[in-house]
Amino acid sequence: MKNIIVTGGSGFIGSHIVEKFIQNKHNLTVIDLWESEEIKNLKKKYNNINFFSLNIHDYEKLETLIKKNNYLIHLAAILGTSETITTYDIEDVVKTNILGTTKILKLTKKYNYKKVIIPTTPDVTWLNPYKITKQAVERIAQLFNKEYKLNVSCIKLGNIYGPGERWLQADFNAPFNYQKIIPSFIMDTLVKKEITIYGDGKQKSEYIYVDDVAETFLRMVEKEVDTGIEVIHVGRGKNYSVLDIVNALEEAWGKKMNKKFVKMRPGEHKIEIKLDPRPLKKFLNYELKWDLVSGLKKTIPYYLDQFNKTK
Ligand SMILES: NC(=O)c1ccc[n+]([C@@H]2O[C@H](COP(=O)([O-])OP(=O)(O)OC[C@H]3O[C@@H](n4cnc5c(N)ncnc54)[C@H](O)[C@@H]3O)[C@@H](O)[C@H]2O)c1
Repeated sequence: MKNIIVTGGSGFIGSHIVEKFIQNKHNLTVIDLWESEEIKNLKKKYNNINFFSLNIHDYEKLETLIKKNNYLIHLAAILGTSETITTYDIEDVVKTNILGTTKILKLTKKYNYKKVIIPTTPDVTWLNPYKITKQAVERIAQLFNKEYKLNVSCIKLGNIYGPGERWLQADFNAPFNYQKIIPSFIMDTLVKKEITIYGDGKQKSEYIYVDDVAETFLRMVEKEVDTGIEVIHVGRGKNYSVLDIVNALEEAWGKKMNKKFVKMRPGEHKIEIKLDPRPLKKFLNYELKWDLVSGLKKTIPYYLDQFNKTK
């Protein structure tokens, strides 16, 4: 049983990680700006979880919590390929993603943390504040590992999907919402709108079901593996285009989607993202379990449920 802080734990990936760790009998301290329904429900079900409504920039309160634990999963961040250009203030993005993370690294170093994990994003040349800050975070974490001897690892994630992921118009009182492909395609189809495809739809990424991410984080904490400056990728070396995703959703759902093509949005250009599954195998002896169609079949009912609630 380990005492673990999860920053940003009310978010999409956070709720899945928190649930997985609680089921494995760890004690969780969840920090976020808002308390999601998922976290409220987990609190009703289990007693080894505490939620703190806290901004990670409240360094005094953050330190009192860090003092009492010895593992930390740092998910708190401001995301958004376009939204970090069009909607959020770049200074806030830099402050949360870079300064907030640096403070967390300093405090976990001060209290001799046994393991710190930070998710980052694939290496791309996109010019948007989210990607730029996450690239900086990865380098700063490597510096803390190499020079300050903190057992911190970065885990590169592709495009993560699954139940609980928010979409741009989602009304959950979350402080930040942004466009994500799978929720947007499903919700637009449910309200009988065309789905929007940026560019020619041939840009490729890795699409990973969220349970594979939670399982990777669990193994990482339980084994306390020190990866040095090596970055673990949660990927299988197989990518899909946006048009492949439409086909896979249509197959998993048995429903046709109407497409409209528009020009590429700000913050990205056409590229192919592919991840390397070898470090995951080497350090954690893990290969991803969920293929695309099985993951989508687990995901679609969540959105049908959300849609029915709005009727
Ligand atoms: N979802 C993906 O596809 C993906 C891919 C690569 C990396 N990641 C990384 O995984 C992490 C979690 O992503 P997610 O998809 O769950 O996003 P999310 O937006 O659902 O979760 C992030 C959480 O951080 C919280 N937060 C933001 N600023 C905060 C602050 N100052 N203090 C406290 N909490 C704050 C938000 O309220 C939110 O609940 C992020 O670090 C993200 O960069 C996600």
